[in-house]
Amino acid sequence: MMQSINRGSVIIICYLDNGCLLNVEDLSMKKLLFQFDTDIHPSSFDTVVAYDGGADHVVRYGGLNPTNVLNLVEGAIFTRGPKDKKNTAIFIGGSNMLAGENIFDLIQSYFFSGFRVSLMLDSNGGNTTAAAVVACFANQLPLAGKKAVVLAGTGPVGQRAAVMLAQEGAEVSITSRSLKNAQLTCEHLQQRFNVQLTAIEAADYVARGAAIAQAQIVLTTGAAGVELLKPEQWQNNPNILLMADANAVSPLGIGGIELTDKAMNRHQKIIWGALGFGYLKLALHRACITQLFTDNQHLLDANAIFALAKQMQIKS
Ligand SMILES: NC(=O)c1ccc[n+]([C@@H]2O[C@H](COP(=O)([O-])OP(=O)(O)OC[C@H]3O[C@@H](n4cnc5c(N)ncnc54)[C@H](OP(=O)(O)O)[C@@H]3O)[C@@H](O)[C@H]2O)c1
Repeated sequence: MMQSINRGSVIIICYLDNGCLLNVEDLSMKKLLFQFDTDIHPSSFDTVVAYDGGADHVVRYGGLNPTNVLNLVEGAIFTRGPKDKKNTAIFIGGSNMLAGENIFDLIQSYFFSGFRVSLMLDSNGGNTTAAAVVACFANQLPLAGKKAVVLAGTGPVGQRAAVMLAQEGAEVSITSRSLKNAQLTCEHLQQRFNVQLTAIEAADYVARGAAIAQAQIVLTTGAAGVELLKPEQWQNNPNILLMADANAVSPLGIGGIELTDKAMNRHQKIIWGALGFGYLKLALHRACITQLFTDNQHLLDANAIFALAKQMQIKS
């Protein structure tokens, strides 16, 4: 082995006994994160977390789709040597989870042999937010066999939370203002993750109250600033054990809770507001970015991110 130091670089060069070059690794190589966003303007939230998670430089692209992303992938996978590829990674974001999934799948199909870099999918924070809240639930009670309802569960956060709840053994329903939308979402998730989900139409307070009547777990994942439940619709429900709301913008998704509720006991239910589990979401998102740069083989989608969230929740 020979170590060479050159203008601030620390390069390790390994030879076999017969003198053949085995490996070259530059320990001072910059960690580059390519932020591929399906929206026109790449998310500033994702950029901040990328730096906080350990990227030295974040290269942001917006408006990406299956027709324009592969040229960028090519540049990312061919440029660095085998041991240095772990210093390049790709993060896929944007408000549309389906668009993100399409790019995530396409990029993987483009990788071959050692020509690959670590890849993470977190459209609209869907994976990290869902993983954080479901890990908080799972840390309180076994979820297997419980009835769970994800209100307004057709967005990125609700979709992935529904999958994670089902993977924990819960019996999960997703509501939408439109039955068709709920059904399409459930069908897509069943196909992608092999989980059973039930679609419910719930377009108003009365319908949402009816949807949660028998539930032990209620998660609200509606758009920012949309109240989905009035206080009296959950406070007097004796079945509910665990509740959480992902919406951080007033009015909150669940009337009568606080944004900062963190495993708070209200009306004999354990409750999290968006900031109450948001600490874990942020820590998890950062930890995922850090993990991307440990190897060039990581594929961080719902399953891997949820596994990490559960480990972090146990330790916290
Ligand atoms: N706490 C955190 O760390 C964190 C991180 C990321 C996101 N968030 C928040 O988590 C929530 C979910 O995020 P997301 O990206 O999945 O949300 P989203 O896609 O913006 O919205 C989720 C669903 O809300 C429903 N909806 C929209 N407007 C509505 C209205 N006026 N009345 C009733 N339902 C309505 C829609 O379902 P239908 O059209 O099918 O009815 C939509 O699919 C958001 O509030 C977001 O701000 C929190």
